[in-house]
Amino acid sequence: MALKNFEFNVITRDKFSRTGLISTNRGNIQTPAFMPVGTQATVKACLIDDIIKTGSEIILSNTYHLMIRPGIDRIILAGGLHKFMNCKLPILTDSGGFQVMSLSKLNKIDREKGAIFNSHVDGKKFILSPEESIRIQKGLDSDIIMIMDECPKKIIDHSIIKKSMELSIYWAERSKVAFGSNPHKGLFGIVQGGLFKELRLKSLNALEKIGFDGYAIGGLAVGETQNEMFQVLDEIKEAMPKNKPRYLMGVGTPTDILGAVKRGIDMFDCVMPTRSGRTGLAFTWQGRLNIKNNKFKNDNQPLDINCSNLNLNKYSKNYLNHLFNTNEILGSTLLTLHNINFYQELMSAIRENIKKGTFDKFHDEYIDKL
Ligand code: GUN
Repeated sequence: MALKNFEFNVITRDKFSRTGLISTNRGNIQTPAFMPVGTQATVKACLIDDIIKTGSEIILSNTYHLMIRPGIDRIILAGGLHKFMNCKLPILTDSGGFQVMSLSKLNKIDREKGAIFNSHVDGKKFILSPEESIRIQKGLDSDIIMIMDECPKKIIDHSIIKKSMELSIYWAERSKVAFGSNPHKGLFGIVQGGLFKELRLKSLNALEKIGFDGYAIGGLAVGETQNEMFQVLDEIKEAMPKNKPRYLMGVGTPTDILGAVKRGIDMFDCVMPTRSGRTGLAFTWQGRLNIKNNKFKNDNQPLDINCSNLNLNKYSKNYLNHLFNTNEILGSTLLTLHNINFYQELMSAIRENIKKGTFDKFHDEYIDKL
């Protein structure tokens, strides 16, 4: 059967916010969308069928981790990442550049060769060039492939950020050539430039000239304040391509998402709901709570009485408190699913309010609550 082409269409607009639909060969994704993180070919502690029941329509995975373990050859032999991990949903993979900087032991950046690093697992040496990152992501058979970029840590030195942004443009060009013609996959560029408006606009402009299926904003959520992040989004929101998906990488809290959607963002990923789910932090419409707190010891109400799709309303806070206090792994599973389900309820409410033209009111009602 012929493969379906990657496509994006904006459906409704409410000021800068929009709803849309990304179509991929493996299914459609309503935007604004949240992508649960499945770094090591698993959304930790969860069955993929349960992730689907939360309303998730795409997950994210990572080139860096999978090239180290189990290695790309083993996944290719298994028939690609979807088959390997039994995932029916579309998968977006990050390119590895960011994780090299944040996780690997020794790393060196070479303009021509790429990132040279020692794995954080056993110290083995790897070289990740833009071409190799795209080769790996194609081997994984990802539906959305990210260009290889360099993301400096939160640095305020203009000349360092400028040099890194220019290197990312060069690597974006090479990534695009290596991607070739693959109309059933999306290739996304990544805007860099730190907190500098002029560098962000230059980066965006250069990426648009190369031409991508979507535009991500990288180099945020690396230690800046929420206001600084929103300011970057404000400064580029009018220049972002109108008919392509916009993805804010590694973001964020529920209020980060509300504020970013207000500024025109369509896609998000973050470890927050999954990582918090494993440490006892629950996201709810009334705000966050720590399920390990003694006050839940005799609370026989569920976290969310309305959670019928996953039947998580059959488990009380009292029981979850017990599971976390005894380090039982079911606690991680239940709370991770609860948190992803909450994030997807938030995205669904965001989409409904944009469609009704009431997003600003919804944003103002929840921006200080969540
Ligand atoms: N994840 C979070 N931020 C970034 C970034 O700037 N680049 C990449 N490749 N991934 C990210």
